[in-house]
Amino acid sequence: MQLLRLLADGRFHSGEELGERLGISRSAVWKQLQQLQTDSEVCLHRVRGKGYRLERPLSLLSLETLKERLPGLRLWVEDRVDSTNALALRYLTCHEPPFVVLAEAQTAGRGRRGRHWISPYGENLYFSQVIRIERSATQLQALSLVVGVAVLRTLKRLGVAGVGLKWPNDLLVSGKKIAGILLELSGDPADVCQVVIGIGINANMRMGTGIDQDWTSMYLEAGRQVERNELAVALAVELERVLSVHREQGFAAFHEEWEASHVWQGREVRLISGVHEIGGTVLGVSVDGGLRLAVEGGEQVYSGGELSLRLQHDS
Ligand code: BTN
Repeated sequence: MQLLRLLADGRFHSGEELGERLGISRSAVWKQLQQLQTDSEVCLHRVRGKGYRLERPLSLLSLETLKERLPGLRLWVEDRVDSTNALALRYLTCHEPPFVVLAEAQTAGRGRRGRHWISPYGENLYFSQVIRIERSATQLQALSLVVGVAVLRTLKRLGVAGVGLKWPNDLLVSGKKIAGILLELSGDPADVCQVVIGIGINANMRMGTGIDQDWTSMYLEAGRQVERNELAVALAVELERVLSVHREQGFAAFHEEWEASHVWQGREVRLISGVHEIGGTVLGVSVDGGLRLAVEGGEQVYSGGELSLRLQHDS
């Protein structure tokens, strides 16, 4: 959306200037501004004699910048999509992985366990990378945990302090969620399959309506606006690095780092699966990414996408 790009700097722009730059009349500018507010939920200020400006600057994605800084990686930058994971799965019918899909907003962002991932326009990172895996159980082993390590390193590198992992693949700061990972599989895991690695990082979000869990963002933690292209590049580079080590050495190469970053290591927890619940103490993670719990009767390892973990004495 060209008009939004002109306004993204957060400065005042007169209707006349915007019209000139877009080659349209002032009244057409006004109509587009109305549309913009409904479509992208951005907050516009209008001051007589000065013009229009966004309530605060937006860091929008730039395909040119991303292509330049990630040479060799095929990528798409979309404006508004249902879900970058869903679009990546659709692209698989006509494009060969690896590739990446990014978007400014998602209207039906997918979270784990059927939850909705709130995805406001231009605020956070909505990133889906598709990889192809050929007859290799080890490449799928603990893959989502390894992706968690890539996100963890990226957040730390960009100045987020105190970030940790929560099994299986949540990223938290002081108990509040800052990023989430959703892997979706297409094809046959025993033969050739494609994995969509969906990553959502709360980057510049300050207010989140409709989020049903404690959350934070890079902006709230580090106190400054995140340049989202820089974040996307750092994430793509780190993801490539960890995926290549994972291909060669499996999860063993990340085991120690993962457990050292596990926020609930050694804690008493409740593991929930639908209506079933089991209490135990977190011992760590197994070689294939399962959760090792000390429960009555000894040690048990749990895995599965529908599981969720809570602290035992959490209210
Ligand atoms: C979770 O519930 O923690 C996982 C959230 C994953 C969200 C990301 S945003 C990019 C990608 N597209 C989606 O629809 N979901 C993932």
